Amino acid sequence: MDYVILGKTGLRVGVAGLGCGGFSQLGLAQGKSQSDAVAIIHQALELGVNFFDTAAAYGTEEVLGRAIKTVRREEVVIATKAPFSFSNPHSTPEGIIASLDKSLSRLDTDYIDVYQLHGVPPAAYDHALNELAPVLLREKAKGKFHHLGISETAPQDPKHQMLHRAAQDGVWDVVMVGFHMMHQNARQRVFPLTQANGVGTLLMFVVRNIFSQPGRLRSTIRDLAAAGEVPQWLTDAPDPLGFLIREGGASTIPDAAYRFVRHEPGVDVVLFGTGNAEHLRTNIASILKPPLPEADRQQLANLFGHLVGVGLDAPHLS
Ligand SMILES: NC(=O)c1ccc[n+]([C@@H]2O[C@H](COP(=O)([O-])OP(=O)(O)OC[C@H]3O[C@@H](n4cnc5c(N)ncnc54)[C@H](OP(=O)(O)O)[C@@H]3O)[C@@H](O)[C@H]2O)c1
Repeated sequence: MDYVILGKTGLRVGVAGLGCGGFSQLGLAQGKSQSDAVAIIHQALELGVNFFDTAAAYGTEEVLGRAIKTVRREEVVIATKAPFSFSNPHSTPEGIIASLDKSLSRLDTDYIDVYQLHGVPPAAYDHALNELAPVLLREKAKGKFHHLGISETAPQDPKHQMLHRAAQDGVWDVVMVGFHMMHQNARQRVFPLTQANGVGTLLMFVVRNIFSQPGRLRSTIRDLAAAGEVPQWLTDAPDPLGFLIREGGASTIPDAAYRFVRHEPGVDVVLFGTGNAEHLRTNIASILKPPLPEADRQQLANLFGHLVGVGLDAPHLS
């Protein structure tokens, strides 16, 4: 594993972080068992992963808390999130304390490393900043969590309006942002601000469905070509991004996707979500590989750098 310092938190975290939500939820969403999920977490620990992202909404706080009993608490960095119901302008500050306490109890831990508001849309940001953050900072002072974070709702906020503010407000130590090969605008909108202000970054949506399901990629490219957003020649090949798979380049599309984001200036932790042991192994290996060849990076920037909000599908629980 390679380790980086997560912005001003000072936490030393692996560049590959296990996401316990998304479409997999450690495999629980595909019908796998709690012990399978524990095995995935243990395999991640063995490969040097020390950053785990979960949320009240994922139903994986308990299994994460159980799995990490095999290591000392200070060897892992746990990030979790308040329920979605607190990411709206009408949520009550009192309720969020009760929810934080429930997360501590489900994780069976004395403290959370990074406590985040979950999927905050731009319209709810004033409430998050002015009503919720002050209350949470008082709980932080009691030691219930160490760092405050916020995640965007990528499908509803593809231009990162919320994070554009949050990265500059000095309240949030960590932000979670959507960034991938066909949704690159965090490069201009988010990373310069997080870097300037020492805010740690967690990446989501790196592979999602668009780069894990070949049919989804083909239909998305077909629609974009029909709309004149990408060149027609991309639709001619059976695999529109097949040009990335070659000697000296990527081995698979997920390999390309993880390597593309990992080396972007301003990126700290690349979250990957899986319930599959083989994916876990290859994804970590991809994140640790060198950058894609410069010609491929340039090609991806030329072809897709202007796109906004592609492939940001929301599952039932993200
Ligand atoms: N707003 C928010 O706060 C928010 C939103 C989204 C995500 N997140 C966080 O980010 C984490 C990552 O989520 P994500 O959806 O963005 O993850 P991702 O890594 O972009 O995509 C994971 C999806 O791709 C599949 N996959 C993973 N590796 C693969 C491989 N090598 N080959 C083929 N398929 C592969 C997984 O299924 P398998 O199980 O089959 O591997 C899963 O369906 C989440 O777990 C969560 O912690 C937060």
